[in-house]
Amino acid sequence: MNRRAARTARRGRDVTALLADFGHDLPTVPTPVKAAREPKPFHHAPRGGPRRVDAGWAPATAPVATYRMTSDQAPVWWPFIATPGLPPTGAQMGIDMLSGGSFYCDPLGWVLRDDVPVTNPNIFSFGKPGTGKSATTKAFCLRMMDFGYRTFILGDPKDEYERLARALGVEPFVIGPGMPARINPLAFGPLIQGWDGLSPEQATSRAAIIFGRWLTLVRGLVGSQRIGTVHVPFGPTEDRVVMAGLQDLTGYGQGATHLRETTIPQLWHLLDNPSPSLIEQCRYATARHFLDETRLLRDALGQLVNGPLAGLFDDYTTIEVDWAAPIQSLSLSRLEPLGDDAVGIALTCLNSWGRGMREMAEPGDLRIVVRDESWKQLRLGPEAVKSFDADLRLSRGCAGMGGDIQFAVAHKPSDLLSAGDVGSQAATIAKDLLHLADIKILHGQRAGVAEDLDTMLGLGPMARDLITGWAMQSKGRALWCVGEQTYKVQTVLHPLERELTFTNEAIATAA
Ligand SMILES: Nc1ncnc2c1ncn2[C@@H]1O[C@H](COP(=O)(O)OP(=O)(O)O)[C@@H](O)[C@H]1O
Ligand SMILES: [Mg+2]
Repeated sequence: MNRRAARTARRGRDVTALLADFGHDLPTVPTPVKAAREPKPFHHAPRGGPRRVDAGWAPATAPVATYRMTSDQAPVWWPFIATPGLPPTGAQMGIDMLSGGSFYCDPLGWVLRDDVPVTNPNIFSFGKPGTGKSATTKAFCLRMMDFGYRTFILGDPKDEYERLARALGVEPFVIGPGMPARINPLAFGPLIQGWDGLSPEQATSRAAIIFGRWLTLVRGLVGSQRIGTVHVPFGPTEDRVVMAGLQDLTGYGQGATHLRETTIPQLWHLLDNPSPSLIEQCRYATARHFLDETRLLRDALGQLVNGPLAGLFDDYTTIEVDWAAPIQSLSLSRLEPLGDDAVGIALTCLNSWGRGMREMAEPGDLRIVVRDESWKQLRLGPEAVKSFDADLRLSRGCAGMGGDIQFAVAHKPSDLLSAGDVGSQAATIAKDLLHLADIKILHGQRAGVAEDLDTMLGLGPMARDLITGWAMQSKGRALWCVGEQTYKVQTVLHPLERELTFTNEAIATAA
């Protein structure tokens, strides 16, 4: 008996058997073929690792937190990792600590590119003294020389650029009481070249630039002096008097074809002994009226002529600057004993003069203008800040000329704010000044100062911690803000550069 017959005998006949008796065979279900299993490439390991010797097994599992987010949100958690790299052009400064690659700084190159969010090439460098601000500045200037940039140190209050200048074969100018170098901040600069041949329109437009610069300077010099805690006012009336005086002295007011160079003492003398035409031009009734109304202005100017800086900025320029040299520097350490205000006033004079000298720079004459210790000027008051502001604004160039990289070095951002009371015009201008520099180098700072930086620049807690922690632990470390992007950079100095940038001579013997 086959199996089906046996089953039937046990359970009776089913429909299949019945149909089979009549010659119909129902199809049967095919038995499925079992596929052979492929070997698993990966094996599941328990959370503590495979339980084998030398297999990384741990008796306790590591607490791993898991976050899920979109790539849009991820940069909020790891703000520095998402920063796109910068192109490898310009000065190679050191190591970008987050990518491990080299960090290059090329301000004008960045301005010209659309993928780097920078619209001006100016640099502001902040840091506690001794954190390597000046060394980074010097390394930057030196390395940019390979790309045709020349450097102009517009006031070196500590004479620390002298070694670099001498290494490049240039003798820096020394400015100080008793030294032969004089600088006339009221020099015409290159704009006077070919004045005789200018059309009246050209002459008027050039005169507007020259007189505008002088007026900014005199306003800065007068406005930086104080009566008690208040700055000497400099309003439209003073503007008019100074302008009329300068036009009178140069001969421009009389329509002369040859303009005479003038100096601050000459201006002071003229205002002290006003000519009838000047009195009339300034709409005063009598000489007495003129003298009474301009007493404060005259006394403030007199301070510059007879004060601590007498003999420095009150005569015709005696130095001849070779603009083709790789570097030029003006050493100011001899002014140090005269006080911070004197150095600040000297910097204001130098800046105005330097700006005049660069007014006709040839296109392609690439220059880095360094203002180290610029806080001394900024602390002088609102007018000094305004004159600094005017210098920075020129950096993009004007009518195809100019276009320097302005590199200002300061200690802390509140140097800018100390120009005036909280919320005052000076403080606002100073704050806006920061926006004239799209590149900011933030070296190590104390917690309080880092907080100020945070409020002014909107850095966020991670950047603030870097400035107060990581950047403080070694020299040359800084957070570089390039537009909206931030980079954690360690400046690397060549041993030769380390020698050229060494500023610890005074305390080196203690080591
Ligand atoms: N990246 C660096 N690597 C090595 N030494 C450095 C670096 N930056 C600065 N130094 C050294 O530190 C000292 C102080 O630097 P300096 O630039 O004068 O500081 P700051 O201008 O901020 O007061 C100098 O002697 C300089 O040579
Ligand atoms: Mg320094």
